Amino acid sequence: MKCTEFLCFLICLVDAIGSRVEAKNVAVNYPGIQFSKDGKLSITVFSDLHFGEPEQAQGRRDADIKTIGVMNNVLDSEHPNMVVLNGDLVSCEWVAPENLNSLIDQIVAPLIERNLPIAATFGNHDASKTCSTRLMSEYMWTIKGTNGKKLSFTTSSVPGEPDQVGTSNYFVPVYSSSDGSKLAMLLWFFDSRGGRIYQPSGIDIPVDDWVDDAVVAWFRQTNDQLREQVGHDIPSLAFVHIPVHATLSFQQNGGRTGTNEPGLNEEEVGNQGDVCDSNGDHCNYNGADTPFMKALIDIGVMAVFSGHDHGIDWCMKWSKNLANDPANGNGINLCFNRHSGYGGYTDWKRGARQIVIEEDKLGKNELETWIRLEDGRISGHVTLNSTYGADHYPSVDKSKTFVS
Ligand SMILES: *[C@@H]1O[C@H](CO)[C@@H](O)[C@H](O)[C@H]1NC(C)=O
Repeated sequence: MKCTEFLCFLICLVDAIGSRVEAKNVAVNYPGIQFSKDGKLSITVFSDLHFGEPEQAQGRRDADIKTIGVMNNVLDSEHPNMVVLNGDLVSCEWVAPENLNSLIDQIVAPLIERNLPIAATFGNHDASKTCSTRLMSEYMWTIKGTNGKKLSFTTSSVPGEPDQVGTSNYFVPVYSSSDGSKLAMLLWFFDSRGGRIYQPSGIDIPVDDWVDDAVVAWFRQTNDQLREQVGHDIPSLAFVHIPVHATLSFQQNGGRTGTNEPGLNEEEVGNQGDVCDSNGDHCNYNGADTPFMKALIDIGVMAVFSGHDHGIDWCMKWSKNLANDPANGNGINLCFNRHSGYGGYTDWKRGARQIVIEEDKLGKNELETWIRLEDGRISGHVTLNSTYGADHYPSVDKSKTFVS
C-alpha cells in the first residue's frame, strides 16, 4: 500500500471513531487498546463458532444456544480485556444473505454485554456464495457496547477484492498501561481466505486458501513504517484462521509430543495452500503460504494463533531444527485454538484459547497461554518462553478431550 493510502485509511478510521489524529506520529495515535492498570493484557480467542448450521448439518440440536453458553462460561472465568473471533464465525454455506446480520447479533451479544473490544479474522466458512465477509465486517463496524463505545476493530487495510486479498487484514496497536500514547505491542490480523466467491445468485467458485502476497507486502511495509516511528522492533502477535504449513511439517515429522506440546492432537493439520479435490478430501500442498511464513519469521512475531483444525490446540516452537519450510523458523511460536462452537465438524470438548501478556515481560518475548474449557477447567497451560518446546508439562487427559 502506498503511504498516502495508508494515511488516508488511518484518518478515515480515526474519524469513524471520533478520535483526533496528530499531524506527527499518525500511526501511534491509531485507535487501539491499552495494557490494563495491572500491566497485563488478557485476550480470549474464540475460533470456529460455526453459527447458523441447521440441525441436519451435524445432527446437533440447539448448537448456537450451546455455543453462546460456551462464550458466556469462558468470559465469566477469564474476564479478558478483548476478544478475538479467529475465523469461521458462521457456517455461511447454510445461511441466506438476509439472515447473516441476525447471526452476527447473536455472536456479539455476550461481548456487547461486557463491553469487550472485538477483533475478527475471517475463515473459509465465512466466505460463501451467500455471505460477503466485507458486508459482515461493515456490519460489525457499527456494533456498540452498552457504554455506547464502538467495539469492533475488524476492517480491511489492504485494497482489493475479498477473493483476491481477503477482508480481515489489519492491525490493532496496544499502548502502554502507564502511557496511553506509547506503542507497546501490535496485534496483526490476516485473512487466509478459502471459502467461495460471494455471488448470491451464482454458483460455488472456490477461493485460494492462503494469505495473499499483496497482504504480505502490506504487512512488511506497515511494520517497517511503525518500527521507524518508534525506533525499535515492536513485539507482536498474529491471528489467522488457517494455520501455516510449518505446523503440518512439525506434526508429520514427529516433532510434537504430548508433554512438550500438551494439548489436543486429534486430527491431521489442514493448512494454508491446500488444494483439495471437489469433496474436500485428498489435499495437496502447493507452497503458496511461503511468502507469509517468511514475513512472520523476518518480523519475528512472538506467536501466531490459528483455528480451522477443530481437534488441535497445542502450541509449537518453530525452531531451526525443523527440516522443511522456508528458512526454518527462528523460534517463533505457532498455536492452535481448539473448537469453540457447537456448529462445525466433530464433538471434541469446546473451549477457547486464553493469552495473557505482561507488559514488563515483552522484552523477554514471553507469554502465558492455556485453553479455558466450557466446564471451567483449564487445559494445556504453557509458558511460551525461550525454553518452550524443551520444557515438560503434564499431558492433557482424555476428560479434557472428548465430550463425556
Ligand atoms: C519457561 O517456563 C517454564 C514453565 O513455567 C519454566 O519451567 C522454565 O524454567 C522457563 N524457562 C525460562 C528460560 O525461564
